[in-house]
Amino acid sequence: MNRLENRFSTWRQRLNRAGITNAANEVDLLLETYCGISKTMRLTHPDLLLTEDQIGQIQRLIARREAGEPLQYLLGCWFFYGRRFWVGPGVLIPRADTEILVEQALAQLQGIPSPRVADLCAGSGCVGITVACERPDAQVFLLEVSSQAAAYCKKNKEEWAPRCQMIQADVLCTTAGLEGLDAVLANPPYIPTGDLTHLQQEVQWEPRLALDGSEDGLSFYRQIPLLWNEALKPGGLLAVEIGFDQAQAVCAIFQSCGLVQVRTVQDYGGNDRVVLGRTPGLAPGQIE
Ligand SMILES: C[S@@+](CC[C@H](N)C(=O)[O-])C[C@H]1O[C@@H](n2cnc3c(N)ncnc32)[C@H](O)[C@@H]1O
Repeated sequence: MNRLENRFSTWRQRLNRAGITNAANEVDLLLETYCGISKTMRLTHPDLLLTEDQIGQIQRLIARREAGEPLQYLLGCWFFYGRRFWVGPGVLIPRADTEILVEQALAQLQGIPSPRVADLCAGSGCVGITVACERPDAQVFLLEVSSQAAAYCKKNKEEWAPRCQMIQADVLCTTAGLEGLDAVLANPPYIPTGDLTHLQQEVQWEPRLALDGSEDGLSFYRQIPLLWNEALKPGGLLAVEIGFDQAQAVCAIFQSCGLVQVRTVQDYGGNDRVVLGRTPGLAPGQIE
């Protein structure tokens, strides 16, 4: 039976049985993305007949979802700060929590004309590209080591902010010649290696390179200031996303690396989420 209403209800039940709580919404998103059938159309045209091709395609997607693959990979995109970013296997799915890093960066860059900003560990590019969109005068550099992730980052920046410069590089080994930066932003891998196996099943589909922050989860926080403080202007901003229990350790690392005005910002759930610090010297825009 190819009737939309019948198929919809079978697919919803399959996802429900697989433990997916928002099953109806997910089937609607797949139908809209792959068949151009919106929820409104489904509700107003329950007798609509799906073609065999449409049924085959949605069945394959439902099977992948039942196996635990993230919905965002099936849709091929996800939203961050109100903009759609292309995603897929090999790139981290942008998280709403990371918007705090962007908000803090934008607040700290206020009053600095044409700021120069580096987004380390850029992944989809959601952090740096959003800064570039919100600050059209900013010069933004996106650095990412993985070629799979870099391909998504490139596609996203071409769509939203083509003037951003994409640099495929290992940010622990090189600053790629960047200097005089007003801000270095990073959402690096920060999960302790031993915790990776305990993550939610869906997260296990995301690249290990995007998650594994070494034995204690802190290795990027130790190494980034050692290399990147030099690329910042005096008074320049280093801002990183952190895990909920890493604030104390990351603040101590930043202070031991000579950063000043070190502080933590919480997310809207009340968890420590971002650590900020500045290189010593005049804050950008500050008059001596
Ligand atoms: C936690 S994800 C963050 C992605 C994106 N910034 C976001 O917030 O959604 C970390 C990213 O760092 C990249 N990465 C890991 N090691 C790196 C390195 N040494 N140099 C540059 N990028 C690296 C991973 O490939 C991954 O895309």
